[in-house]
Amino acid sequence: MEIFNRPRRLRQSQLVRDLVADTSVDTSKMIQPYFISESGTKRIEILSMPGIYRDPADRFLESFSADFDLGINKIMLFGVVERKDAVASGADHDTNPVIQAARSLKEKYGERIFVSADVCLCEYTDSGHCGLLRGERIDNDSTLERLGEMAVALVKAGVDCVGPSDMMDGRIGFIRQKLEEENLTEAIILAYTAKYASSYYGPFRDAAESAPKFGDRKGYQMDFRNQREAVRELELDLEEGADIVMVKPALAYLDIIKTFKELSPVPVAAYNVSGEYTMAKLMARENIVSERDIVLENLTAIFRAGADIILTYHLRDLLQKRWLHG
Ligand code: PBG
Ligand code: ZN
Repeated sequence: MEIFNRPRRLRQSQLVRDLVADTSVDTSKMIQPYFISESGTKRIEILSMPGIYRDPADRFLESFSADFDLGINKIMLFGVVERKDAVASGADHDTNPVIQAARSLKEKYGERIFVSADVCLCEYTDSGHCGLLRGERIDNDSTLERLGEMAVALVKAGVDCVGPSDMMDGRIGFIRQKLEEENLTEAIILAYTAKYASSYYGPFRDAAESAPKFGDRKGYQMDFRNQREAVRELELDLEEGADIVMVKPALAYLDIIKTFKELSPVPVAAYNVSGEYTMAKLMARENIVSERDIVLENLTAIFRAGADIILTYHLRDLLQKRWLHG
């Protein structure tokens, strides 16, 4: 038998496979999200996200220090508040738990930690929508004002990077301009550029208590039938001054990540969202799959598609359980 090309030669042993592998999972390119609550005295595990907690702002430093020791030094913060109103007053108020946590983190760790924070109103509006309402409709342009104020307040509290996740038109340029006006020229904007209206955000809305009280988010988040629209959003966010562009969710949107990788002159991030996390967790809990194996496969796929950066709830397990070390 003469078969000259035998691809199996390069699969014959673990060492050879490691030698020729063209994608690696690098934890220095990952960001761990956290939910910070305004009230409460202890950390509470989120029912729909096993292993992920809601931490009271004034206890966060304490619970985070174990994670920092594991090697988690790039994080994304989300706020959970009780007081919500029509204009999202809590978003830029000093009582915002994200503002509190960012301030104390920066005081303690300085440049040893990279703090990013979500910029969106849904955690602070009584409607649970990402924008302000006029009647039952989203008012795009008045929402921008609040987003701008929120971004400025976060950066002033020490946040290194703001991540607008609201999907309003013109928000990246508006926020960039507000930051420039305040001379906050170092602040990085991680734009949720192609954020699709997705069922995979279900566990997050439970975690952040941010589900819309009526209707859905299809009037602002993207329709998952569309690819070219993601390219249009990419062009706009680049023009408006985004430093990093993001695709969200990740696993069902690998084609979009690949498209961004080809077209984007700036780094591409992907958000391995709550529903993707919980799918892996629940399958593992039922002993249907090995958690380590499925998580490494998922993260590898996201990197292979072209992500430079991954936001993932799995980072802590990855480090704590030393999944990358056999
Ligand atoms: C806020 C926001 C959401 C997520 C990140 N920022 C929820 C939503 O848009 O409904 C989802 C993240 C996740 O599911 O892990 N707009
Ligand atoms: Zn939102």
